Amino acid sequence: MWDNRAAMSFRLPIQYDFSLRAYNTLGVEARAQAYLQVTASDMLALIDSNAELDGLPRFVLGGGSNVVLTRDFDGLVLHMCTEGIEIINQDEYATYVRVAAGENWHRFVLWTLAQGLGGLENLSLIPGTVGAAPIQNIGAYGVELKDCFHALTAFDFASGELFRLGKEACEFAYRDSVFKHRLRGRTVIVDVTFALPKQWQPNFRYADLAQELAARGLDSPTARDISDAVIAIRTRKLPDPRVTGNVGSFFKNPLVSAAQRDALLLQHPQLVSYAQAGGSFKLAAGWLIDQCGWKGKRVGSVGVYEKQALVLVNRGGASGKDIVDLARAIQADVLARFGVQLEPEPVFI
Ligand code: EPU
Repeated sequence: MWDNRAAMSFRLPIQYDFSLRAYNTLGVEARAQAYLQVTASDMLALIDSNAELDGLPRFVLGGGSNVVLTRDFDGLVLHMCTEGIEIINQDEYATYVRVAAGENWHRFVLWTLAQGLGGLENLSLIPGTVGAAPIQNIGAYGVELKDCFHALTAFDFASGELFRLGKEACEFAYRDSVFKHRLRGRTVIVDVTFALPKQWQPNFRYADLAQELAARGLDSPTARDISDAVIAIRTRKLPDPRVTGNVGSFFKNPLVSAAQRDALLLQHPQLVSYAQAGGSFKLAAGWLIDQCGWKGKRVGSVGVYEKQALVLVNRGGASGKDIVDLARAIQADVLARFGVQLEPEPVFI
């Protein structure tokens, strides 16, 4: 632990003109003016006492799996590398587990399963860190982070204080939270507490997952069975970022009104859409992009993954700008053909 009394005299191990290539899963080159590996949350309170960091914009980096670096960053990158997982409480409804922001998400999910705690199995193999997960309310196979979220601790840059946020205050929505809006750039998530249900129920309503489990002859799967099935599907459909640079889904599945979906369905009977609470529909962006002929296409050093049109890939040596140019071309085609504006999912620098 860091001794706060030494704060005024302590110099943080800042590195300057630091390459972020190894720290973003797209694998693009961009340099940070200043970089700090945050291995203890107490380090955050010391930043203000380093005069050379005064006034520098800050960017918080987790696993770098949902960020597109389009330029060098003239500021301080805070790379959250804190560790620690602990069961902090239990009641009749849930087991409460607090996790440090820098823990790898998938390793944490596997840890919960090893403890016999279900709830996060559908979110297996999602790249990135625990601290990044609430920002876009990660989701897959019918489950979102918010379903097992209890509270989090964040550090407020302005006041230099830690504060707690409960579920309501996080304003979770589809791939969205208060951290993409009102609190954008103002805080760092330090730890997250999950409430893992005592009365666990499997959730395999998502068609792909139901099929995978049926193919394995599992009609009452355990949490571990679901995790194994999700890992198998993701491995088949999504590129491994350690091999092929990508940030998972590049666009959100767009929400449209029932009238717009009905009109599209008349013209395109194969349209893939999902009814939402409130009467609107979510369209499968991957299907829209696929229909425009982009799947598997290569444009210079970037391309669209051959097994999932929602994933843009770095074919080697791409820059963030190359990826952005490709994304814009795809958006323009989808807009021209379907009248639907695709919204990117990752964060851009
Ligand atoms: N589809 C196509 N062509 C494609 C891709 C998809 O026709 O190239 C069709 C599929 O046949 C299917 C539908 O589109 O009918 C949906 O595809 P899929 O089940 O693969 O899911 P998705 O909507 O493309 C979403 C999430 C993924 C998540 C999966 C599983 C978003 C933006 N993406 O993808 O999340 O893993 O569902 O739940 O919501 C991520 O956020 O990075 C991510 C990978």
